[in-house]
Amino acid sequence: MSPRPKIALLLLSAVPFVLALLGNATKPDDSWTLVVSGATKGYLAPCGCTKPMSGGIRRRASVIQAISKESDLVVELGPMVGGPGRQSEIKAETLAQSLKTMKTDFVSLQKSDLLLGEGVLDSVSRLSGAQLMRGQADDFQSGEGWLMANDLGDLTVEQAVLRAQSLVRSRESKEALIYITGLGKDEATEFAAKVPELDVVVYSSSSNPERQAVQIGKTWLVSPADEGKFVVSLRFTGDRFEAPVVYGLGPDIHDEKTVARYYDQYLDRLRVEKLVEKMPKSSSDQYSGTDKCRSCHEPAYKVWEGSKHSQAWATLKADKHDADPDCVSCHTVGNQSSGGFIVEEKTPHLTNVGCESCHGAGAAHIEAPERVKMPTVGKDSCTPCHKLNHSPNFRYDEYWEKIKH
Ligand code: HEC
Ligand code: HEC
Ligand code: HEC
Ligand code: HEC
Repeated sequence: MSPRPKIALLLLSAVPFVLALLGNATKPDDSWTLVVSGATKGYLAPCGCTKPMSGGIRRRASVIQAISKESDLVVELGPMVGGPGRQSEIKAETLAQSLKTMKTDFVSLQKSDLLLGEGVLDSVSRLSGAQLMRGQADDFQSGEGWLMANDLGDLTVEQAVLRAQSLVRSRESKEALIYITGLGKDEATEFAAKVPELDVVVYSSSSNPERQAVQIGKTWLVSPADEGKFVVSLRFTGDRFEAPVVYGLGPDIHDEKTVARYYDQYLDRLRVEKLVEKMPKSSSDQYSGTDKCRSCHEPAYKVWEGSKHSQAWATLKADKHDADPDCVSCHTVGNQSSGGFIVEEKTPHLTNVGCESCHGAGAAHIEAPERVKMPTVGKDSCTPCHKLNHSPNFRYDEYWEKIKH
C-alpha cells in the first residue's frame, strides 16, 4: 500500500511547521526519502510539567512509521544522552530499542556519545540494528543513489570543509551527497557555501526549525532541532531533493505501542536499580518535613495544604515517575541533602514540595524557634524549580498570589 494517504493525514492533523507540501502526485516510484530526527540528549519523553509539550520517542516512532517506507534512509542524530552515568546508559539502550521500531539505518554520533563507552555503544548498535557513524576519516556511508558523511561536532568550519570535499571526491556518479555536522546554524551556512556540491547539510541546533526552508545554491540546510522534538524529511526524486517537510511532535500525535512498552520498561529499570536512592548528595542539612511545622504555623500550613505543592508527589506517582532521578528533585523536599528526601519508603514525610523546599532545612529551628531563625526568603526560593523549561508561565507576583501565607 502506498504511504501517501497517511502522509496526507499527518500533514492535515499534526503539523504546525509545514515548510513545503509534498510534491504533486505523479512521482516516479524510485523516489526515496531522507528522514532525520534526534539529538535526543536524554529526553526520551517530555517532562509534562507544563502543557502542551512536544517531543518524545513514543510520538516520534508514530510519525516515522507513518511517513517512511523500507527504502528510505532514516538517520538519528546524536547526542543520544545528556551525560555519563547509569541512567544515561539505560536511556541509550531504550533509545536504541526504539530506533529499531523507527527503522533507523544510521546513528550519527556526537563526541559526547563516545563517553558512553564501547560496551554501551555495542548494545546500541545491536539493539537498534543501525550502523554507528563515528566521523572517522574513511567512514563514509553509501547506498542506492546516495553518499553520506558526518562529523562528531568537534571540527572547525575549515576541517569540516576538507572532510566534505573528500566526500565529494569519493563520488562515482551522480549520487546525492549528504553531510551531517555538529556545527551550528551560522557556521553550517558558511560551510555549505564552501562545498556547493552537497545536496543536504544537516546541522546542529536547539532552536525550532525554520518556518522558511533554507537553501544555499542547491544545498538544503536543515536541522530537526534537539531533544527529539521534530522530524525532518526530504524526498529525493529524479536528481534532487524537494524542499524539506518538518513534523512537530505535539500532544495530538499518538504514542507508538511498541515504543510505549519500551518506555514503561525503562521506568521499571530505574525502579529496580533504585537509582533515586543512589542519587549523589551535596549537603547534609537536616530536614524535618511539613507536618512538623504545622503545630506552630497552622495558618501557613492550611494555605500549603490547599496548594498544588502538597500534591506534587501524587502528581509524579500518577505519571509513574516517582523512581526517576530526572524528576524527584523538584517534587520533594531537600533531595540534594543526605538529611533530605532519599526515597519514599525511607522518607515519606519529605515527599511533595514542602515548607522547607522554600524556607530551607528547619530541624534546628523546630528545636529552638526563638534562638534559631529561619532565613528570609523571596523570589529566589522559587527559581530552582520554576525554571523556564518546567514552568514557562512563571511570574513571581502572580504565582505568589496563589500561595501567599
Ligand atoms: C526543575 C524542576 C522540575 C523537574 C526536574 C521536574 N519538574 Fe515537574 N514540575 C515542576 C514545576 C515548577 C511544576 C509546576 C509548573 C507550573 O505550574 O508552572 C511542575 C509540574 C509538573 C506536573 C503537573 C503538570 C500539570 O499540568 O498539572 C507534572 C505531571 C510533572 N511536573 C511531572 C514531572 C516529571 C514526570 C518530571 C521528570 C521527567 C518532572 N516533572 C521534573 C518542576 C520540575
Ligand atoms: C522544590 C521545587 C519547588 C519550589 C522551590 C517552588 N515550587 Fe511551586 N511548584 C512546584 C511543583 C512541582 C509544582 C506542581 C505541583 C503539582 O501540580 O503537582 C508547583 C506548582 C506551583 C503553583 C501552582 C501552579 C498552578 O498552575 O496552579 C504555584 C502557584 C507555585 N508553584 C508557586 C511557587 C512559588 C511562588 C514559589 C516560590 C516562593 C514556588 N512555587 C517554589 C515546585 C516548586
Ligand atoms: C513555595 C515556597 C514556600 C512554601 C512551600 C512555604 N513558604 Fe513560607 N514563605 C515563602 C516566601 C517566599 C515567604 C516570604 C513572602 C514575602 O515576601 O512576604 C514566606 C513567608 C513565610 C512566613 C512569614 C515570615 C517571613 O519569612 O516573611 C512564615 C512564618 C512562613 N512562610 C512559614 C511557612 C510554613 C510553616 C510553610 C509550610 C506549611 C511554608 N511557609 C511554606 C515561601 C514558601
Ligand atoms: C515549636 C514551634 C515551631 C515550630 C515547630 C516551627 N516554628 Fe517556625 N517559628 C516559630 C516561632 C515562635 C517563630 C517566631 C520567631 C521569632 O520571631 O522570634 C517562628 C518563625 C518562623 C519563620 C519566620 C522567620 C523567623 O525565623 O523568624 C519561618 C519562615 C518559620 N518559622 C518557618 C518554619 C518552618 C518551615 C517550620 C517547620 C520546618 C517551622 N517554622 C516550625 C515556631 C515554630
